[in-house]
Amino acid sequence: MKVLVTGGCGFLGSHVCEYYIKKGAEVVSIDSLTKYELRRTGYAVEGARYYNWNLLKELGVSLIKGDIRNKQELFELSKDCDYIIHTAAQPAMTISIEDIELDFTTNVLGTLNVLEAARNYSIPIVNCSSIHIYGNKINRTIKEGETRFLREPQSIDENYPIMEGNLTPLHASKRSAEIYVQTYIDTYGLEAATFRLTGMYGPNQFGGEDHGWVANFVIRTLLRLPIKIFGTDKQVRDILYVSDAVEAFDAFYKNKKPGIYNIGGGVKTIISLGECLKIISEITDIEQNISYGPQRLGDLWYFVCDILKAKNELGWEPKVSNQTGVTKLINWVKYNIEIFGG
Ligand SMILES: NC(=O)c1ccc[n+]([C@@H]2O[C@H](COP(=O)([O-])OP(=O)(O)OC[C@H]3O[C@@H](n4cnc5c(N)ncnc54)[C@H](O)[C@@H]3O)[C@@H](O)[C@H]2O)c1
Repeated sequence: MKVLVTGGCGFLGSHVCEYYIKKGAEVVSIDSLTKYELRRTGYAVEGARYYNWNLLKELGVSLIKGDIRNKQELFELSKDCDYIIHTAAQPAMTISIEDIELDFTTNVLGTLNVLEAARNYSIPIVNCSSIHIYGNKINRTIKEGETRFLREPQSIDENYPIMEGNLTPLHASKRSAEIYVQTYIDTYGLEAATFRLTGMYGPNQFGGEDHGWVANFVIRTLLRLPIKIFGTDKQVRDILYVSDAVEAFDAFYKNKKPGIYNIGGGVKTIISLGECLKIISEITDIEQNISYGPQRLGDLWYFVCDILKAKNELGWEPKVSNQTGVTKLINWVKYNIEIFGG
C-alpha cells in the first residue's frame, strides 16, 4: 500500500504518516513547512518547524518539501498511490482574516489540485474540514453552566444547518473545499470523504493562540508563560486525541463510504477551556497565570459532535479519555521542552 499525506509534517499529518509506515505501507508526505502560525507562538520556531520532518525521516517516510498549490508536483507524487489523506491547510481563523489570499489559495485551490490528482488516478481521498463550518450562530443556543456552556441536545450531527453566524475567510475556504469534494463524488464518482474535525490534541502539536489550544495551554503551563483566554473559559469542545483521529482515516479506507462525517470525541470528551486548564494544572502541579481578552470574530463557543454517522458507516469510535490523552501530551511537551525554548 502507498499513501500520500499532504501536510505530512503538520500535527495531524505526522501521526497519519507514522501510523501507515508502521503498518508497512510506503508513505509520501508533501509539506511546504510554512507553518505561519509558529511565528506567533513565542517558541523556538525553527526547531519546531523541523521537528516532525526529522521524526518522519527517521521512520523512513519519503519527505517532499513542496506546495499543494503546485498541481504538477501533486500529480507526480500521486502516481501509484492507493490512498490520499489531505491534511495540508491554512488552519487558523485569525490568519485567514489577515491573509485571505493565502487562505483561499491553500484551502480552496490546494484542495482542488489534490482532488484533481485523486480523480486522475482514481485514488480514494479524505479531506480535512472543521466543525467551524457550522458557524457561531450555535452560540445563541447555549446556556451558561457553572464551569461550561450547556446545550440540549448536547451533540450536533451533519444535518445541522451550516455557515450560520459570523463568517470568516476560513469558513468560506473550508466550506468551498467541502463543496468540491462533494462535486467530485457526485460528478466523477470519486471515493471521497470530508471529515469535519473537532479540536484535536496530542504529541507533535506546536499549538499556539491561533490553532491547537490544548497544546497551547500545556506548553504555556510547563513554560510558566501567561495564558490568554479570548472571551470566556466556558467555551466547550469534544476534544479528540490524535490517535483516534488517525483511526478514522483508516476506517474510511476500509469502508469507503463517501460523504461528510463529524469526527470528534462526542459527549464522552466534552470539556470547557477552564476545565481543561484545571486538568493540566492538576497533572503538572503548576498554577497557571491566566488572563482574559475580548472574544474573537467567528469564535464558536460550543461544539460537540454527534458521531453516530461515523460509527454506523465507518465503524469508527474514539477510545482515548481526556485524562489519558492530556497526560500523554504533557509528557511529550516535558520530554521536548527545549524545542519550545524551555
Ligand atoms: N488541529 C485541530 O484541532 C483541527 C481542528 C479542526 C480541523 N483541523 C484540520 O485538520 C487539518 C490538519 O490540521 P493540523 O492541526 O495538523 O494543522 P498543521 O498546521 O499542524 O498542519 C498543516 C500542515 O500543512 C502544511 N501546509 C500549509 N500550507 C501548505 C501548502 N500550500 N502546501 C503543502 N503543505 C502546506 C503546513 O506546513 C503544516 O505542516 C487541517 O485541514 C485543519 O484545518 C484541525
